[in-house]
Amino acid sequence: MAHKPRVLVARAISPEVVQKLEQHFELESNQQDLAFSPEALIARLQDKDGVLSTGTQLIDAPLLAACPRLRIVANMAVGYNNFDVAAMTAAGVQGTNAPDVLTETTADFGFALLMATARRISESEHYLRAGRWKSWRYDMFVGAEIHGSTLGIIGMGRIGQGIARRGAHGFGMKVLYHNRSRLAPEIEAECKASHVDKQQLLAQADHVVLVLPYTPENRHTIGAAELAQMKPSATLINIARGGIVDDAALAQALRERRIAAAGLDVFEDEPAVHPALLSVPNVVLTPHIASATLGTRRAMAELAADNLIDMLIAGRPPRTPVNQPDAGAAQARAGLGAGVHGKT
Ligand code: GLV
Repeated sequence: MAHKPRVLVARAISPEVVQKLEQHFELESNQQDLAFSPEALIARLQDKDGVLSTGTQLIDAPLLAACPRLRIVANMAVGYNNFDVAAMTAAGVQGTNAPDVLTETTADFGFALLMATARRISESEHYLRAGRWKSWRYDMFVGAEIHGSTLGIIGMGRIGQGIARRGAHGFGMKVLYHNRSRLAPEIEAECKASHVDKQQLLAQADHVVLVLPYTPENRHTIGAAELAQMKPSATLINIARGGIVDDAALAQALRERRIAAAGLDVFEDEPAVHPALLSVPNVVLTPHIASATLGTRRAMAELAADNLIDMLIAGRPPRTPVNQPDAGAAQARAGLGAGVHGKT
């Protein structure tokens, strides 16, 4: 009897999804949640046909060359900047991501971070816990208005649109957005959002929210020059990816109060956080948790699992591909996997 395809689950995921994968695959799961070094990851992937990755495992040309049977890398993340997409395509390896299932949860978090930042919730809680609250003052921890203010969104994909809807419909905000391409008029109308250039957005927004994908061109979309264009009363929120903001420049702008505050869920060198950010009070810092509800994390893992099943069991294209692998190279990998599994 032919063996089941072999799959690695690279980090701990919802146990229900591990059980589902076990029904289809010869599974190596990492429920102890070890963070594999690149060498350890390669060692585990050398005999695997697929891997469920979490967005933190680098999938590059050396790994692909060392893992000749690997056919699919299924990220349980919407972002896939851990993939060298060109190398995967040339090597015949399918990449998939996990869009849509996290949109509303992530938009909720983006809005929560905006509110916590603008209304100084973390900073004032630290003050209280430190026993420094002695009396009421009219100007104690005064923050920025949210309702009726101007929201600027850079990166107006599904999550950006979710934040726009929350701002426009829930808080009566004027919504400006900047995106590579302008949205269809009906989506602009639904989000009550106006397309502007980046300079206009930075100059006019009271709150700037970053939701764009990381690409080398998007590196430091917000650096010293852009921070200088923002209002001194403005807040900046990054729920996109580390590296989109120049963290050192941001820490300096916060320290010098050139903008009022920032809320960051992602960092240039995460899980390390720039020490200068840790020493300024006017920043809310969270450890990359924008999609973190149990239901959403499970749905993300389910989608990654479905992509693995589509390709390795059902023999059909995965439902959320991010590339179209070279057919010849993909066939060679499939043949290698089938031969090896048949023999064992
Ligand atoms: C999280 O950052 C994701 O890309 O899903």
